[in-house]
Amino acid sequence: MPPRNALYAQSGGVTSVVNASACGVIEAARQHPDQIGHLYAGRYGIMGALREDMIDTGQESVEAIAALRYTPAGAFGSCRYRLKGLEENRLEYERLIEVFAAHDIGYFFYNGGGDSQDTALKVSQLGEHMGYPITCLGIPKTVDNDLAGTDCCPGFGSAAKYVAVSTREAGLDVRSMAESSTKLFVLEVMGRHAGWIAAAAGLAAQEPGDPPHVILLPEVPFDRDAFLATVKNSVERFGYCVVVVSEGLRDEQGRFISDAGSQDAFGHTQLGGVGPVIARMCTDALGYKHHCAVADYLQRAARHIASKTDVDQAYAVGRAAVEMALAGRNAVMPTIVRMADHPYQWDIGEVPLSEVANVERKMPASYIRQDGFGITEAGRRYLQPLIQGEDYPPYRDGLPEYVTLKNVSVPKRLGTPFDI
Ligand code: F6P
Repeated sequence: MPPRNALYAQSGGVTSVVNASACGVIEAARQHPDQIGHLYAGRYGIMGALREDMIDTGQESVEAIAALRYTPAGAFGSCRYRLKGLEENRLEYERLIEVFAAHDIGYFFYNGGGDSQDTALKVSQLGEHMGYPITCLGIPKTVDNDLAGTDCCPGFGSAAKYVAVSTREAGLDVRSMAESSTKLFVLEVMGRHAGWIAAAAGLAAQEPGDPPHVILLPEVPFDRDAFLATVKNSVERFGYCVVVVSEGLRDEQGRFISDAGSQDAFGHTQLGGVGPVIARMCTDALGYKHHCAVADYLQRAARHIASKTDVDQAYAVGRAAVEMALAGRNAVMPTIVRMADHPYQWDIGEVPLSEVANVERKMPASYIRQDGFGITEAGRRYLQPLIQGEDYPPYRDGLPEYVTLKNVSVPKRLGTPFDI
C-alpha cells in the first residue's frame, strides 16, 4: 500500500507537556515513511482541519521537533471547539471528508481531554457513517486528570508538581510572617469537576501540621462552618493556615462557589475567583490578614518544574498512538497503566474512545480524608509517583529556551472557505 498522510491536532486547555506528545507523534511517524507520507498538524486543532488550515511538520528540523519535548503549551495552537453530532450538523463531517480526501489523510491523531476524545470518536466513525475510512486515535492530555480508562493523564503530574512545590514554598513564607502579619494563605488551583490538582498539594506536607492545612475539593460539598472552624484551629495550633482550593468547589446544592458568568464552546462554566472569595470569608469571620494567589495558567504552563514521569508518559503516549495506528488499531486511545506504586512502574495500554468520550473521572472517596479537608495515605500513594523526577529545559540568559516552530502552511487544494 502506498503511504497515506496523517493529521495531528491539539485540543482543549494546553499543558506543559502536550508538546512532548507531539514530539512523540512526529518522531515516530518520521520512522515510518513507507506508511506515513506527510504528517500535518491542524492549526488550532480540529478548526484547522475544517478550515483547511494545516501545518507541514516536515518543514521542521530534527532539532526543532526534539525541542518540543521541553516546550510548554500548544505548538500548533489548540481549540475549544465541539463537533456537533452527525444528525445535528452533517455539513461539518462532509467538510472534514472533503479536506481529508483532498490531502489524502488516512490517519488522524487527536490530543486532548474528555471532550476532545468525543471529537476523535466522531471522526473515527466517518468510515462507518459517511464512507470515508480513516484510522483515528485519541492521545490523552489534561491537567485535570479526569480522563477515564487511564491511570493518569499526561499534563497532570507536572501541574501537580508545580502546585505541591508552590504550596511548600508559600507555606514557608506565611509561617515566617504569621507572628505579626499574614496568618492565612489561600491558593486557588484548576480542576473543574475533579479535585486531583488540589489533592496533589497535599504532597507538600511531610509532618503533621505542615501545609496545606486545608484542601477544598469539588467532590466534597462546601461546609462553611466546618471550614472556618478548621482554619481557626490551624491558626491556634500552628500559628498560620494554608488553604488550597479547587476552582470547582461547590455548595450543598451543587452550585459553583465561584462562577465567572461565561461559558466555553462545550457549555462549561468559566471558573476562577473562588480563592479570593474563600480568603475574604476567613478575614471577615476570623479577622486574619490574608494573601491569596490564583495559580491559573501558571500551573499548566510551568514547564520549568515539570515532572519527569509526566514528560516521559506524554512522549510515550504520542509514540504509542502512531505505533498502534500502524498496527491497525482504530478508535482507541493509548493509556497509562500502573504496574506498581513503589518503585513506580508503568506501561502503555489502550481503551476504546467510546469509553473515554465525555466521561469524567472524579477522585475516589478512599483518597479523601474523613473530615473532607485533606488526602489519605491511599491518595498520597497514588499521587506521589506522578510528580517524581525533574526534566529541566535548557536555559539561556537566565530563562528557559523554548522553541517556536516555523509552522509553514500546507498549500490549500480546495481553496473554499468554511465558516466556523
Ligand atoms: O483543560 C482543563 C482546564 O485546565 C480546567 O481546569 C480549566 O477550568 C480550564 O481548562 C480553563 O481553560 P480555558 O479557559 O483556557 O479554556
